[in-house]
Formats: sequence, C-alpha cells, structure tokens
Amino acid sequence: MDMQEDPLRFGLIGTGRIGQVHAASIAANPDTTLAWVADPFVGGAEAVASRHGGRATDSPERLLASGELDAVVVASPTPTHVALIEACLDAGLPVLCEKPIDLDIAKVDALRPKVAASQVPVALGFNQRFDPAFAETRARVAAGEIGEPEHLSIVSRDPGPPPAEYIAVSGGIFRDMTIHDFDMARFFLGDIVEVSATGAQLFDEGAREHGDFDSVVVVLRAASGAIATITNSRRSRIGYDQRLEVVGAEGSLTVSNAPSSLVSVSTARAVEARRPYVEFFLERYATAYAQELAEFVELARGGKSTSPTFEDGRAALVIADAARRSAADGAVVRIDG
Ligand SMILES: NC(=O)c1ccc[n+]([C@@H]2O[C@H](COP(=O)([O-])OP(=O)(O)OC[C@H]3O[C@@H](n4cnc5c(N)ncnc54)[C@H](O)[C@@H]3O)[C@@H](O)[C@H]2O)c1
Repeated sequence: MDMQEDPLRFGLIGTGRIGQVHAASIAANPDTTLAWVADPFVGGAEAVASRHGGRATDSPERLLASGELDAVVVASPTPTHVALIEACLDAGLPVLCEKPIDLDIAKVDALRPKVAASQVPVALGFNQRFDPAFAETRARVAAGEIGEPEHLSIVSRDPGPPPAEYIAVSGGIFRDMTIHDFDMARFFLGDIVEVSATGAQLFDEGAREHGDFDSVVVVLRAASGAIATITNSRRSRIGYDQRLEVVGAEGSLTVSNAPSSLVSVSTARAVEARRPYVEFFLERYATAYAQELAEFVELARGGKSTSPTFEDGRAALVIADAARRSAADGAVVRIDG
C-alpha cells in the first residue's frame, strides 16, 4: 500500500461567491480538509463551516494564529489581498490568493521583494489555466501540432453586468475582468510587450456612472512577435461566452462554448435548437477550480506545480494598467521588463 500523506488543513478567508467555490473544492478533495473559515460577516463563515467543515470566526487574524493550518485560500475582497498574503508569509503558510493581487501596482511592488525572498509559496487564482479545454489546447500548442503560434483570439462575455456598487470598487473592467484574459494571453504567448485598447459604454448604466466600460477590445503584441486580440463584454444574451482560438503556421486549435445540455429540439420553426450556453463561471469553470486547488496542494507540499505565481499576478496587472492608459488616451503602450 502507498504511504498516504495526511490531508492538508486549510484556512479559508472570505466566504462570498468565490470563497464558497473554494470551500466546496477543499471539502471534495481527499487531500484537503477545511479547518478554519473566516469572514467578518460571521454568518457566512458559519454557513460554510457547517456545510463543508471547520471552525468559523469573524477574524482572519484568529484563523492565521490558530496553529492548526497547513495552507490558506484568500477569497476576500481585493483590497485585503496584499495584507493577507503578507500575513500568510509571516505565519509560514502557503497561500492561494484570488486575483487581482491588488488594484494598485505600487502596493503589489511593495510586497514583491518579500514574496521573492520567502520560501513560502504564493499562488494566484487564475483558474482558467486549469480549464481542461484550455489546458489541452496549450499542451497541443507546446507539442507543435499547429506550428509556432502566430495569432491568439480570446472572446469573453459575462451573462450580464454586475451591480453598480460592484463596478464602483472593481478597479474597472481591465483589472477586474480582462485580467483573466491577460493571464491567458501570457499562458499561450509568453511575455507581452505592447498593448492597445479601446472601450465603450453601450448598455450598462453602472459602467457609465462610474466611468468604466461595459465592452472592450484589446490588441496585444508578445515578445515572440505573435499578436492577440481580446474581446470582452459585460453582457451576453446567449449564456457565458468563453471562446478561444490559437492560429499557427500549420493550423489552428479552437475552444468552443460549453453547452448547458446535450439535448436539441427540432420543430417547424428551427432544427437542432439548443438552450443557451452554461450560465456563468461557477458552471463553466467548476473543473478548473478543483484542478487549481489540486495543483496548489502540490505546490504547498513542495512538489512540482504549475500554479500561477505572484509574478504572474503582477504581470497581468501591469498589462491591465497599460490597457487602461491606452483606452483613456488612445496610445499604444509599451511594457518593459
Ligand atoms: N477567479 C475567479 O473566477 C473569481 C471569481 C469571482 C471573484 N474573484 C475574486 O475573489 C475575490 C472575492 O470576490 P467575490 O466575488 O467572492 O466577493 P464577495 O463580495 O461575494 O465575497 C467577499 C467576502 O469576503 C468577506 N470579507 C470582507 N472583508 C473581509 C476581510 N477583511 N477578511 C475576510 N473576509 C472579508 C465579505 O464579508 C464577503 O463574504 C475578489 O478579489 C474577486 O476579484 C475571483
């Protein structure tokens, strides 16, 4: 019989939309248990703990000081991430932190040397890297199936805009939403050296009210010479629209949308008609979140891991800031180093 390692004891900080996804992944994975759950809204922490295990507290500090943890997931609002990553490093606890690291690159850069000098691993929640279809596509690109990649095309449209209060503190669409696509562009093409972006306020009052865009198009140039386009919208009437195509010298690889059902209906009005695509990220990326956790467990155990790093989180934020500048003043923005 194989030697089994004890499950890693997790602390979860933040039990909102994405925190609940992580709680379910931790509870479902045989290598992990949920030991502590913290949220200032303690009712949320208690509900998660009673469903998935662990003790509830309103205090992240209490969770970190419990001495009963092997690793932490940070799923609290973005402005809390930098301080919580630092607290995890100080406590010697490997941390998987949600994206973005922060909205302010200066705060990210202030923490950067400490992360680099620490032996404690930090992973970033770029879950899309672990989507089976995207991961397969990247592996097939790397295997040379379509030759050198020349053009990457990413389409990402959310089903509907978030509330105006969310837009107000989101940091804008590039840092909130497109940041996933910036990471995917780096995942496929490596370093990005040039960014141009344009945005529009087409339908969302919240975006208009807070000076944000609800629709954007970004063009990226990679150090390799390859180019990428990203199309984002806060609205999609056909379900969650998540498509990707990589074109190379020898052909292309395409990832289509996930159907919500394999059933189609044919009538006198339409043939092979299907329901809209899956609703949103919880359904589309369910497998990716579970795999993201599994890779982080490898990292926390000191094994070989493909978890995105703090530096990946920083690089995506740098591209997002460049896109903001470009969309504001029309310039093509160079990214150095
Ligand atoms: N990777 C993804 O697919 C994905 C999806 C959604 C959100 N996110 C990111 O996850 C983070 C949380 O987003 P959300 O949509 O779950 O937000 P949310 O508002 O649904 O939940 C946040 C939770 O954190 C709690 N909280 C507030 N201050 C806290 C603190 N100081 N310490 C601990 N908990 C605190 C709130 O009470 C709330 O329960 C954001 O950074 C967001 O960008 C990532």
